Order: sequence, then structure tokens, then C-alpha cells
Amino acid sequence: MNVHCDEIAATTENGILKLGIHRPEKLNALTATMYAALAEEIENAARDESIRVVVLHGTEDCFTSGNDLADFAENPPQGEHSPVFRFLKQISQFRKPLAAQVSGPAVGIGTTMLLHCDLVYADETAKFRLPFVNLGLCPEAASSYLLPKLVGHLRAAELLLCGDMIDSARAAEIGLVTRTFPHSELEEKMSEKLRQIVQLPPRSVQLTKALLKQNQTRQVAEVMSEEGALFIQQLAKPEAQEAIQAFLQGRKPNFQ
Ligand code: COA
Repeated sequence: MNVHCDEIAATTENGILKLGIHRPEKLNALTATMYAALAEEIENAARDESIRVVVLHGTEDCFTSGNDLADFAENPPQGEHSPVFRFLKQISQFRKPLAAQVSGPAVGIGTTMLLHCDLVYADETAKFRLPFVNLGLCPEAASSYLLPKLVGHLRAAELLLCGDMIDSARAAEIGLVTRTFPHSELEEKMSEKLRQIVQLPPRSVQLTKALLKQNQTRQVAEVMSEEGALFIQQLAKPEAQEAIQAFLQGRKPNFQ
């Protein structure tokens, strides 16, 4: 890996690439460097024939609290070549199976990245939130297209407009996660499924994923790019500045 990042742990074993987000002191909040490392790992995995499946995971009690808000304020993404957008492009175009193992909070991009996965296993501690409106921002990762497609307009609108946190039972009920398991079983259940995928004929697996996604590929790229431009614009506006500063200062935002 060329991008050096202690907070992203990449391990490969028997055709399975595990990408671990490890920054527990900030609830695995993602910085530009971490996105760059993740993007590079996924790009390399796409080329490496020995890798059959990739799984994203966090730490024992947290998937990720989303974009690092301090990093966002100091080092905002500038355009489609910014690390966050490169990461999103890589996961949205990845041709091999992409899985996620979720414990604890999965906030913002922690939830939107799941929309690009093929298998999402979560435990009873997992909770999901899309606080883009609350932060004066707008949806990203083509979530304004993929979420209503997955869960229906009304449920997507409640999640995206109100930014409420939902638990794993609700996430499973609406189809945001594949299955839930008790915390003690999650890792083994995920590993079991990944080992099963590795045994399958790889070309057929990739062809099937391509067919499953073929009707949405162009739309996802277009929406992601449109949302990305609006997201960057919103980030520079007073509403987002106030929301981010309020979080960093531990106070309620004032949008009056
Ligand atoms: N960016 C930067 N720092 C973050 C962060 C983020 N997204 N999420 C959490 N942290 C930091 C907190 O500032 C705190 O740091 P400190 O101990 O140095 O003060 C630490 O991580 C623990 O967070 P805290 O809020 O105290 O934990 P909690 O268990 O009470 O709440 C969350 C957990 C995830 C609900 C809450 O941290 C949160 O809402 N985070 C922001 C999520 C967000 O808006 N993400 C961006 C989406 S675009």
C-alpha cells in the first residue's frame, strides 16, 4: 500500500481481504488519509485475482461515526478526485462481492457505504443514522437514489429528512442489512459466509453481481457526481459550518 495509514488495517487470507477501520478514540471517524488508504486497497483488490471478496469492518463496538467532522472543517473535499469520492467510486464500481460486518454506530457514510455492499451482517449493537440534513448537508454516495430503491420512498425520506438513529432490528426489517446475529456470533457468521463465497466459481460470481447491478450503474455514477457537487457547496455554507462547529464544541447548533 502506498498510502500509509495506521488507522486502516488490511489483511488478506484465503482470498478474503479484510479492511478494518481502527480509530477507536474518535469512534472510527474517517479522515481524508483513511479514505485514500481504503480507496487504494479496493483498487488493488479489483486487480488482484487472488482476492475473491472484500469485507469492511470497524472495531468491536463501532463501525464508523462517518466523516471526521474536524477533518471536514479543516480539509474539505474539493472535487471528484478527493479521497472520499475516490473511495465511493471504488466501492460503487467494485466487481467482486463486497461485504460489511457492522457492530455499534454506522453513521453518515458508515450507512451510505452499505448501500454499495452485497452482504451486510450486523449485530444487536448496530445502529444506523443519516444526519446529512442535521449537518446542513445533503445525501452522498448516491443514497438519494439507492436508499428509496432499497427501502421505499417513505422510509428513505424519514431516514434522510429527519436523521433519526435506527437499530439493527429496524434496519433488517426495512432491508438495509441482510441479517442480524448476536454480537458473539457475528464475526464467525460473516467468516463462514465469506469462506463459502471464496469456494464459488469467481467468474460466475462476478457475472452475477454485474447482472444484478447493470440497470443502475450509470444512474448511480450520475447521482453520486451530482450529490458530490452539492455536498461540497453545502459544506462551505453557514448552516454546515454552524452544525459542524456545534458538534466540535459540544453544543446544540443554532440555525436561526
Ligand atoms: N468526527 C469527529 N469526531 C468524532 C466523530 C466524527 N464524526 N464522531 C465522534 N467523534 C469523537 C467525539 O468528538 C468524541 O471525541 P472526544 O472524546 O475527543 O471529545 C469521541 O469521538 C466520542 O464521541 P461521542 O460523541 O462522545 O460518543 P457518543 O457515544 O456519545 O456518540 C455518536 C456516538 C456516533 C452518536 C456521536 O459521536 C455522533 O453523532 N458523531 C457524529 C456523527 C456524524 O455526524 N458524522 C458525520 C456524518 S456526515
